Amino acid sequence: MASITIRNLDETAKQALRERAAKNGRSMEEEARLLLTAPNLAPRRKTLTNAPIELLHHPNLESGEVQPLSSMGYDSDELATKVSLSRSITEEFAGFPAAGKRVLLIISGGIAAYKCLDLIRRLRERGVHVRPVMTKAAHEFITPLSVGALAADKVYSDLFDREDEQDVGHIRLARECDLMVVAPATADLMAKIANGLANDLASTILLATNKPILLAPAMNPAMWEHPATQRNIQTLKSDGCLFVGPSAGEMAESGEAGTGRMSEPMEIVEVIGNLLDTRPKPLLGKRAIVTSGPTHEPIDPVRYIANRSSGKQGHAIASALADLGAEVILVSGPVNIAAPKNVELVKVETARQMQIAVEAALPADIAVMVAAVADWRSVGEAKEKMKKENGKGPSSLKLTENPDILKGLGHHKNRPTLLIGFAAETQNVEKHALAKLEKKKADWIVANDVSVDSGIGKNKGGVMGGDRNRVKILTKVGIESWPELTKTQVAKRLAQQIADTLFTKSTAV
Ligand code: CTP
Repeated sequence: MASITIRNLDETAKQALRERAAKNGRSMEEEARLLLTAPNLAPRRKTLTNAPIELLHHPNLESGEVQPLSSMGYDSDELATKVSLSRSITEEFAGFPAAGKRVLLIISGGIAAYKCLDLIRRLRERGVHVRPVMTKAAHEFITPLSVGALAADKVYSDLFDREDEQDVGHIRLARECDLMVVAPATADLMAKIANGLANDLASTILLATNKPILLAPAMNPAMWEHPATQRNIQTLKSDGCLFVGPSAGEMAESGEAGTGRMSEPMEIVEVIGNLLDTRPKPLLGKRAIVTSGPTHEPIDPVRYIANRSSGKQGHAIASALADLGAEVILVSGPVNIAAPKNVELVKVETARQMQIAVEAALPADIAVMVAAVADWRSVGEAKEKMKKENGKGPSSLKLTENPDILKGLGHHKNRPTLLIGFAAETQNVEKHALAKLEKKKADWIVANDVSVDSGIGKNKGGVMGGDRNRVKILTKVGIESWPELTKTQVAKRLAQQIADTLFTKSTAV
């Protein structure tokens, strides 16, 4: 059985395991082993390749009432590997398109080799298996010890190592992966691949492979621009090799600048994710508009009316729709979170700007209005900062109502095929949400209780600003109540439901 790395489990799982081990007088390692090899596992072997990551955060494990994870029917060896590999595949990384895939990483000898340590970490925390190969020159820059420790795998270096050849062999190394990544790809190694040389382990594997090859070049700008290197790049491209970078900037050598810097680890991770993304894309060819975050309605140059919306739910929905293949325009108010990479972001401040941006993005097949649009704005924004005026209280603020963007879409001549609104309520959630469904002419309303004492979230801080949500989906035909989930899970489930509904609509006779 694969090894169990308890220290890499998340805190909640670790605590649950600790309590259970203490109760049974066993070590945590022993307890985990027993959990994973529970007897009721054999008759129902399932493959974990596509098992949901939630498996590792199963409520039984989280609540402390641990029952054998294997009782869910998963193969024990694979489950142990997954637990070991889970490391910190936290919610943030769950659903990485290349999770579970195998990357053979060839590290060649360049100063940028140090970035590979981070690259390995980032890939592993996203559930990618990394098998490292180092050229002799790479040993001059980083040690096999650190590479092997981060990859949790043996580092292969020598073509003529008898032990390695008996163990795996260079042909198996070349074939047992989904993608080969060469980072940094030096001028020398690229020249070798372009000319079919095979005089060390790295070049031999690269010649023997039938898998796609991704090169992340790194070299001095003069070497990059040299006609010989450029010739080799053309050859490699026509042979089907893929490239990420290099980027322009300062070189490690002092005083040198230009094109030749290896791409940053996260850029490489993203390209790997895209290349290995084999998930179905039911929303391919569909266009979606998503609004997210709060709006800020200025009072004077330094003050504004706003609300507590963080944008987490809206951004997660935009990302989940894009993951299913939709072209997504995310219209976002001011937020402190990163925009998903795979969407077109339109940043706005006010409700009126949001309305203009949404209407400019029409026509669309799907619109999900998640933004907590400020209902009112100040009449006549002051040009200068408003002063206290000799200790007198604030002058009263005159407000006017903002345009209702969702309602506007509901009545629009280019109304999206599927129009979804949110209802943020603190009381009578269903009643208010149903009224919004009718009034705004939406197809669905996703209703959530945003009161601070809703009991939602690990520290029960409520939905707004938190990472969890419990929603009800109201349609003209009924109400569906979902359990408390993370916002990412809500987003994925909603995106799938949107895809299913559009498919049913398009195939209905
Ligand atoms: N919405 C909108 N434009 C507005 C106000 C709300 O597009 N000016 C959208 C929100 O994005 C959400 C839905 O309408 O999809 C409901 O928003 P919510 O704030 O819950 O309700 P309001 O319409 O603002 O009504 P109330 O404040 O009375 O609850």
